[in-house]
Amino acid sequence: MKITVVGAGNVGATCAESMVRMELAEVIVLLDIKEGFAEGKAMDMNQTATLNGFSSVVHGVTNDYAATAGSKVVVITSGIPRKPGMTREELIGTNAGIVKSVVDNALKYSPEAIIVVISNPMDTMTYLAAKQSGLPKNRIIGMGGILDSARFKYFLSGALDLPVSDLQATVIGGHGDTTMIPLTRIASYQSTPVSNYLSAAKLAEVKSATMVGGATLTGLLGTSAWYAPGAAGAVLTASIVRDQKKIFPCSVYLEGEYGESDICMGVPVVVGANGWESIVDYRLNEEEAAEFAKSAAAVRAMNVVLDSL
Ligand code: 2OP
Repeated sequence: MKITVVGAGNVGATCAESMVRMELAEVIVLLDIKEGFAEGKAMDMNQTATLNGFSSVVHGVTNDYAATAGSKVVVITSGIPRKPGMTREELIGTNAGIVKSVVDNALKYSPEAIIVVISNPMDTMTYLAAKQSGLPKNRIIGMGGILDSARFKYFLSGALDLPVSDLQATVIGGHGDTTMIPLTRIASYQSTPVSNYLSAAKLAEVKSATMVGGATLTGLLGTSAWYAPGAAGAVLTASIVRDQKKIFPCSVYLEGEYGESDICMGVPVVVGANGWESIVDYRLNEEEAAEFAKSAAAVRAMNVVLDSL
């Protein structure tokens, strides 16, 4: 089996490295437009095979889509990352053109592929990929909510002083500083609501920290984060290639679910060999449903921008 990661920058390279360590496919193709860049990253990763104990290989190529032919999954990370002070939405003009051409090229050689979108603004790029490709909706998946949920669990773990592995928490809605919705009501520790242990004020703090989690890292790093985004892309791909049927919050094309249509945004989906296979209804309460509608309005405003490009 073959998986392709497009973009060998920080996120793409980290994603490919997570995949090769997990041995998700015999070959992980890493493609970049910068001459020799993906080849160099791939060689470096392959030289860790005996150190990290894996037998899959990363094949680095410069813009050679023929080398990606027959990929089961194509992960798109290409585009410019945000700089401190920028929102993800400000990247739309540049990244839309890039994502469009990547989708076209990738599908020419892997017409059966499932497309995973990581490029920002992620919901808009997922919507663009869905429209551009004309693929069945279940084969286009935006990754953002998995990353945001991992960050939510991280901040909850800090507030609770409890192991992150014992926490369950989900972020739905848009993958933006003001559009994501960390679902504090259903976040749990060993099957008990975290609100049993944290005050409403503390929970609100955790929610805010989660929402600006990416911006905080951009401020610290001078560019956007890569370890968690890359790992999230790999975990999502694992559920596809191993048909794990995991429930992840992902950006998918909605047709009435959660009260929205003709939009891609984060909802819990079952992910397996066919891409996202069904949408899970979390039965939002009134307040959460209102937050979801507000988030959808903001995501939709970005989709409108696509038409003017
Ligand atoms: C983040 O939140 C890159 O959007 C990604 O870090």
